[in-house]
Order: sequence, then structure tokens, then C-alpha cells
Amino acid sequence: MKVILAENSGFCFGVKKAIDTAFNEVEAKNEHKLYTLGPLIHNPQVVEELKQKGIDVIEDLEEVHSGNVIIRSHGVPEKIYREAEEKGIILTDSTCPFVSRIQKIVKEYYDKGYQIAIIGDPNHPEVIGINGWCNDDGVILQKTENIEKLKEDKPTCVVVQTTMSLVLYEEFIELIKHKISDLQIFNTICLATRKRQDAARKLSKEVDAMIVIGGYHSSNTQKLVTICKEEKPNDTFHIETVDEIDFEILKKYETIGITAGASTPHKVVNEVLEKIKNLL
Ligand code: F3S
Repeated sequence: MKVILAENSGFCFGVKKAIDTAFNEVEAKNEHKLYTLGPLIHNPQVVEELKQKGIDVIEDLEEVHSGNVIIRSHGVPEKIYREAEEKGIILTDSTCPFVSRIQKIVKEYYDKGYQIAIIGDPNHPEVIGINGWCNDDGVILQKTENIEKLKEDKPTCVVVQTTMSLVLYEEFIELIKHKISDLQIFNTICLATRKRQDAARKLSKEVDAMIVIGGYHSSNTQKLVTICKEEKPNDTFHIETVDEIDFEILKKYETIGITAGASTPHKVVNEVLEKIKNLL
């Protein structure tokens, strides 16, 4: 059996920056109690490690009256900055720069009177955060039929969730172009996502089976699973930790490809690689 790791997999730059920030805050022996607004990344093992170091997760600023709250890479609505200031809560902003860019675009065009279209998952914190930079007035397009909600006669600014698949994004854009003529389109899928998805697709074509490592709630991991399943519908396995590998099933394959979501620590990827190599 041969095991191949996809060229681009595991922690992306934005997630790494957020985690480094959190651990640096711990090491700096911050005098304030540390929190993250929502789990720092979609990886329960890392969240648990942070908890052991004294960083608790809160879901709402209402839950605290003081302390230092770390904003994760997904970003937050604009009002969170105001609320924190009013309450005297210190914010450590780890919003990924690719997400901050989308927030700025949305704010700029909303203030100019544009209709804002956000292609993405309405329940994902990144999309909720982006929508919070246009007063929650954005039209969120999760399915192509949602395009009906867009007003045809309004100048429209289109952005896309950073982890969206390029193929799906292009499908949306084609349909929007047929409906609205005055358009400002920004392909805001991040480079790390694109590279990771391209590498996963390429590797899926070359191997007998794919293992995708990453949190079950991680949007970018789920996209990788979808991409791998397009090539290997019955031979793609999504796992969160090494314990979930079914070695009996894997034994039948000659080549296995491995990829990992942007919030999957290298440690977890290495554990999986090691365990499979022990099978050989
Ligand atoms: Fe940022 Fe892209 Fe990662 S948006 S958090 S570098 S997946």
C-alpha cells in the first residue's frame, strides 16, 4: 500500500495566525481572563488544549463583563467591536486578513447604496460576520434558487465565502450575470482554500481511496470531502482523529491519498500517516 499526502493540506495561514495569537496570549501571562468568541477553530482537540491553558469559549459577549476576548479567523459583525468597547472588554483580533478584506468590500459598497450578495452558508460564522458589515441586509445565496431574492434593478456587489468551491461560485456568477447588469463581482475565495481544493481533486484522481482529516463542523473540510467524493464516491472517508480509521477497510486499497482541512493540526495528520504506515 502506498500513502500520499496532498500537496496543500492542514493548517492554513489564517488559522495558524489565530492559534499562535492565542498561545502567545497565554505565554504572555495576560492579566485578564482569556476567552474566544466561539471555538477558535473547528477542531475539538485544539479547543480542549486551549481550555486546559485557561482559554474558555463564549458564544456571546453578553456572557462576560470584563476580560480579553480573542476574535477567531472567521471574523465577527461590526457591532461586536462597538459592544466590546462599550463594555470595556479588550478584543484581540485574529480575523484572517482574507476575511477582513471581504468585510471592508461589503461595508464600502453597502455605504454606496449597493445591494450586497454573499455566496455562502447563512449559518457559517464567517458569513454571519460579513453580513454584519452591511447591517445584516445582505442577500445570502446558499442555493442557486436563492438568486430570486436579488433585486434586478439595483447595483449589486457580490462576494463569496472564503471556503466556497470555485466550481459552485462560477455557477452562481453565471446566473447572477443573467439577472443583474450593474455588478461589482469579487472572487473572495482565499488562495489557501483554492490550492487545498485543487490538490485534493488532483490527488483523488490518482489514488484508490481518499482520507479527509478534519472537524465534522469545519466548512472547508466538508468541501474537501465533497470534492474527493466527486472523484471517489464510495472510497472517500472523513475522519476527525486517528481512532476513527477502519484499518480493515483500508487494507483493500493499493494507494491512499490523504488531505486535511485548514483547521487540522499537523500533529493529527502525522498520527494518521504513522498509523497507516504501520499497516504496511
Ligand atoms: Fe483565512 Fe483562507 Fe484560512 S480565509 S482562515 S487563509 S482558509
